[in-house]
Amino acid sequence: MATLAPQLETAVQDFMVPRPYRVQRVGKETADTFTLTLAPESDEHTTFTPGQFSMLWAFGVGEVPISISGDPAVHDRLTYTIRSVGATTQALVTRRAGAEIGVRGPYGAAWPIEAARGRDVVIVAGGIGLAPLRPVIYHVLAHRKDYGRLVLLYGSRSPRDLLYRKELASWARQPDTQVLETVDHGNLAWHGHVGVVTTIFKYARLEPERSTAMVCGPEIMMRFAIRELRASGFAREDIHLSMERNMRCGTGFCGHCQWGPLFICKDGPVFRYDRIRPLMDRHEL
Ligand SMILES: Cc1cc2nc3c(=O)[nH]c(=O)nc-3n(C[C@H](O)[C@H](O)[C@H](O)COP(=O)(O)OP(=O)(O)OC[C@H]3O[C@@H](n4cnc5c(N)ncnc54)[C@H](O)[C@@H]3O)c2cc1C
Ligand code: FES
Repeated sequence: MATLAPQLETAVQDFMVPRPYRVQRVGKETADTFTLTLAPESDEHTTFTPGQFSMLWAFGVGEVPISISGDPAVHDRLTYTIRSVGATTQALVTRRAGAEIGVRGPYGAAWPIEAARGRDVVIVAGGIGLAPLRPVIYHVLAHRKDYGRLVLLYGSRSPRDLLYRKELASWARQPDTQVLETVDHGNLAWHGHVGVVTTIFKYARLEPERSTAMVCGPEIMMRFAIRELRASGFAREDIHLSMERNMRCGTGFCGHCQWGPLFICKDGPVFRYDRIRPLMDRHEL
């Protein structure tokens, strides 16, 4: 025991120390949202499961949790889609190619891509909530025979806020794939659907008993999406969602992200709906 303690301490320190990555590419998605591709400075093999997040450190500013939005089959870089909402996210999205960013993780529970094998995958995303679900789409399209239909219901505030516009169009052309988009407020150039994401459920070809639903977006949107999924016949245990709370350590040590008896960083961020329903019903948590 006397020799184990320092080793444990070192292991915990290593776990908490950000590894240096360099910005390879910055792509503008919308006025305030950018996709950053980061490559490790070492010959580290990058690996993650869709739904997991990293702690990204903008040196001199701060550290924030950001979901990995890239392709899980790519092992020499990590991709993140970040909306600038405050000091740290602003610092991250304004980093240029070659800048250094610290990366910890990947952390957290993933979307149930193994349990969903052989089933239809129904994705409901709102705004930046599409980012943690994009790796699921890449995975399903790369393993097309292992899954049934892929249905994406995606809502954003306005046409200018839609993420991954070219990819949305290319996903819609894939076999056994249905992509439905809507915006809360249209403009003259927008000929698509206008209304919140729940208003496009009626156009989706859903077979709830053979489907796994994955939902991510603002909490209010997720509540309405769950209601709609339940009304369409989805069982509670076939609905999964990704929750957000402010985080510090990202590893279950500091208690910052505590949600009732759970830590979002360690037990989530992806949860099966039937397991967190009592917590979701308690608005003060
Ligand atoms: C598991 C997880 C995954 C995430 N993935 C992404 C992602 O892929 N892309 C992305 O852009 N953002 C993501 N976020 C949210 C991101 O971490 C916050 O936007 C960020 O921490 C804000 O930090 P800041 O210093 O820029 O702003 P701050 O100055 O800390 O806050 C600015 C504003 O954002 C609000 N805010 C701060 N943190 C959060 C949060 N966690 N959730 C909601 N609102 C918050 C504050 O209340 C404030 O109004 C994720 C959060 C979690 C917990
Ligand atoms: S962020 Fe520290 S316990 Fe979750």
